[in-house]
Amino acid sequence: MAADALLEVRNLSVRFATGDGPVYAVNDLDLEVRRGEVLGMVGESGSGKSQTWLAVMGLLAKNGRAEGSVCLGGKEILNLPQRALTRLRGDRMAMIFQDPMTAMNPFLTVGRQMTEVLEWHRHLSRREARARCVAALESVHISDAARRLSMYPHEFSGGMRQRVMIATALLTEPELLICDEPTTALDVTVQAQILALLDELRQRFGTAIVLVTHDLGVIAQLADRVTVMYAGRQVEQAEVHSLYGAYRHPYTEGLLRSVPRLDEPRSARLATIPGRPPDLASRPAGCPFEPRCAYVTEICRQQMPPLVSVGDAHLRACHYDGALGRLEPDA
Ligand SMILES: Nc1ncnc2c1ncn2[C@@H]1O[C@H](COP(=O)(O)OP(=O)(O)O)[C@@H](O)[C@H]1O
Ligand code: SF4
Ligand SMILES: [Mg+2]
Repeated sequence: MAADALLEVRNLSVRFATGDGPVYAVNDLDLEVRRGEVLGMVGESGSGKSQTWLAVMGLLAKNGRAEGSVCLGGKEILNLPQRALTRLRGDRMAMIFQDPMTAMNPFLTVGRQMTEVLEWHRHLSRREARARCVAALESVHISDAARRLSMYPHEFSGGMRQRVMIATALLTEPELLICDEPTTALDVTVQAQILALLDELRQRFGTAIVLVTHDLGVIAQLADRVTVMYAGRQVEQAEVHSLYGAYRHPYTEGLLRSVPRLDEPRSARLATIPGRPPDLASRPAGCPFEPRCAYVTEICRQQMPPLVSVGDAHLRACHYDGALGRLEPDA
């Protein structure tokens, strides 16, 4: 364990029971989040990103089951009783989502929703709580904060609602803030503003941030380290500059190849890797990326490649030892 590890995830698996049998959403995941860092997690839709962090937060759907170990500050928190989890979620870690409306009550003013958090977790009086909420809104650059406390969620724009969510999450000064696609629903300009805001908050408060996204461009702007998910598994983990400069996994190559340019219209920015992600109801013996991989050999079909070190805090799960780069940008 790194000395500065805040969260340690060991051998985490998430499985859902469904009418058609089990769905293996997250498999044997090992990672850590260090104090004050931004850890990016990237992968296509359905690769297990959200379920990983919902499991950490104790927020899986009823048919989901998490196994393994998750330690926060050295203490096991996976599958704690609901009461303990509720407290932990407010006190030490918080999560924000792509669509803040899902986490907000449309019938309560923003001020009521924010002060409730403080009254519950910090036992502040209504008045003290209000003052803290105004300060929190100001820290995410919402002007005229006192007046806005009496507004309802639908009276805010998408970008403003995301700011309110971030402000609410930060009220209790959590050590860990998990952001699940926080900018996916926003247009490019607002997206950049929210990412800049997260960066600022990390620097001011030393909050560790997990940034979950399907967009490597977002990771490049903010993350220190990045982990790449495919079919519920980590396939590569590295510092951001070494991932971009010297990626070691064919899937990462495909993702980087499909990174859109910011000056292209959004519709043109949805390039994808040919083929489809595997069905998570089956557990292949070999590498799950094999049907889509340009480097596949016989062993790939037979053996699951383990996640191993390839030097310098760089891990990957792939049998192929040769040079990558077969996927030319214009191929
Ligand atoms: N309640 C559920 N029951 C069955 N399968 C689920 C449930 N919730 C999520 N899944 C499946 O888990 C897989 C991973 O989902 P998720 O982590 O949300 O992906 P993403 O990487 O897009 O965030 C998906 O195949 C999804 O269909
Ligand atoms: S293990 Fe084989 S199939 Fe999987 S990514 Fe590596 S080369 Fe491709
Ligand atoms: Mg998701």
